[in-house]
Amino acid sequence: MADLIAEIQALEAKAASAIAAAADTEALQNVTQEFTGKKGALTHVMKQLGSLTPEQRGEVGKAANIFKARLEELLAAKEAVLAEARFASLAETEFVDLSVTPGEYAAIASGATHSGHVHPIAQTQKKLEEIFTSMGFSIVDGPQVEDDYHNFGALNFTDDHPARDMQDTFYTVTKHLLRTHTSSVQIRALEKMKPPIRIIAPGRVFRYEEVDASHEHTFYQMEGMIIDRKVSVGNLLHLMQTLLSEVFSKGVEVRLRPGYFPFVEPGFELDMKCLVCNGTGCPVCKHSGWVEVLPCGLVHPNVIQKAGLSPEEWQGAAFGLGLNRLVMMQHGIEDIRHFMAGKLDFLRQF
Ligand code: PHE
Repeated sequence: MADLIAEIQALEAKAASAIAAAADTEALQNVTQEFTGKKGALTHVMKQLGSLTPEQRGEVGKAANIFKARLEELLAAKEAVLAEARFASLAETEFVDLSVTPGEYAAIASGATHSGHVHPIAQTQKKLEEIFTSMGFSIVDGPQVEDDYHNFGALNFTDDHPARDMQDTFYTVTKHLLRTHTSSVQIRALEKMKPPIRIIAPGRVFRYEEVDASHEHTFYQMEGMIIDRKVSVGNLLHLMQTLLSEVFSKGVEVRLRPGYFPFVEPGFELDMKCLVCNGTGCPVCKHSGWVEVLPCGLVHPNVIQKAGLSPEEWQGAAFGLGLNRLVMMQHGIEDIRHFMAGKLDFLRQF
């Protein structure tokens, strides 16, 4: 009997070291089986009770119960340690970042994380801003929701002016409109600044337009305006040339045509040889080989007068660069719709 009790007590030390070595819950279950399972070490001892008196069996039974209780205790303590370790590692590996957007989450989950970068239009806009600020221009801004006066009236469009139809307009119920061009910022600048003035105004503009490869309802322009005592077509052309040669490191072919805009006189359309098709004709250049990128002209005396300045004293030049088209020429992009399609495959090329 004493042997059996000693055997049971020896089991405790063995079980304690097996439990200490167990790395997870599964290993702990194995330990339980090993010591108290049907084929376990304790069962093995208990099978030898046959030759003992009832009192002796009682003594051994007591020792067995003490062992079982001790085993439970050790298992529970170890289980608690394992659970704590599991939670600690969960916090490291499976924390939830509530600021992650579904798109980012999908990218992270698929292992394809990309850090974002500046949109191709904004890249070119920034480059132009650097060129113009280095020439003494300041960058100004205006509202995207405009009133008729700043978008049309002050720019020499009369109420029934047919040119209003050139710019199909989105109106709000309060008779405001989404600006159809950044020329509205010319007026805002004239109201705020004292001449001489040199400004650029990059921004988003909107037209109620049938969308196709070369037309978007929402696109970007960059307005430029100089007001000074003497401004000539020569000044204007010099500005245009500087702009284009800085943006395109290679020489580009341009042509100048007369163009009509109520707020300039004379007005021009500056076209670029289409760089998507090299002038052979494609949907971007409407198969003409040329793309209108830079409408411009000398500021109409009526505009200067409406702004409260004397047209005798002040002259001006202005341009309205089409940023989307310029960027399309720069990178050979064949469809204006790519810019706002939210396609990462497209955007990652720039
Ligand atoms: N605002 C005109 C347009 O969007 C372009 C333009 C700007 C023309 C400045 C001449 C001078 O069509």
